[in-house]
Amino acid sequence: MSAPPAAAIAAAKGALAKALRVVVLTGAGVSAESGIPTFRGPGGLWKQFRAEDLATPIAFGRDPRLVWEWYAWRREEVAQCRPNPAHLALARWMGSRPGVTLVSQNVDDLHERAAGEVARDAEAAARAAPIRLHGSLFHDRCARCDHRARGGAVDATSVATLPHCPACGGLMRPDVVWFGEMLPVRAVEAAFAAAGEAEACLVVGTTGAVYPAAGVAHTAKAAGAAVIIVDPGATELDAIADFRLQGKAGEVVPLLLG
Ligand code: OAD
Repeated sequence: MSAPPAAAIAAAKGALAKALRVVVLTGAGVSAESGIPTFRGPGGLWKQFRAEDLATPIAFGRDPRLVWEWYAWRREEVAQCRPNPAHLALARWMGSRPGVTLVSQNVDDLHERAAGEVARDAEAAARAAPIRLHGSLFHDRCARCDHRARGGAVDATSVATLPHCPACGGLMRPDVVWFGEMLPVRAVEAAFAAAGEAEACLVVGTTGAVYPAAGVAHTAKAAGAAVIIVDPGATELDAIADFRLQGKAGEVVPLLLG
């Protein structure tokens, strides 16, 4: 796919330059060029696997070993992947300009890793850290007492070998949001507060099919923000886009933010 015309990029750049406050919403597409499959496209994870068997609290209660087997595999696969030019450009941009809030639906930690790679100092890295709406693949949480810990390699051969809570002995689970679960309240509040104040909203690589995450773009639009969408395909947010930059994140985002 060819990149969007230079005039379209320049117009969107202008909207970003004018905005004092920007909210960025990313989805699985921003990590596609890092080799991480999206959820709904051709070859997407929810085309190959049944979410109801793997990504619900009921599934975990029924068969924690199976759920962990899938997440342990994803953890290993994603750990091999690296931030791509879209993650890096975003991290550089956020490190060098104030007033940008990054909200991500992704659990792959690639925004954090990009910030760690390119930020000049700890302050710039902290500025480039995302609000994680859907948790992290690399963290565990106790299914009984909510104790959280950095996760490691998981041996999913039996329930006994799964990670157990150092605080209460309960079974640990991946610290990701599953279907039917509430999102972390503070993350949602911070994301919507940023959206409500934004003068521009950059949406990268999400179908915008999952709420409340997609509501970040609607809230920004309602607050008067110019909405810029970077995606090679059609999305459910296209109707509210002021600028639609059709192309891959790894190609378009560096042009837009460079
Ligand atoms: P989807 O799989 O629904 O959408 C991925 C989007 O990325 C689509 O619009 C693609 O066109 C686009 N895309 C593909 N390749 C791209 C590229 N190289 N550059 C830019 N965009 C590209 O993923 P999400 O919208 O992120 O939730 O899915 C939302 C949530 O649904 C996920 O966070 C996950 C899932 O169930 C939880 O796990 C709670």
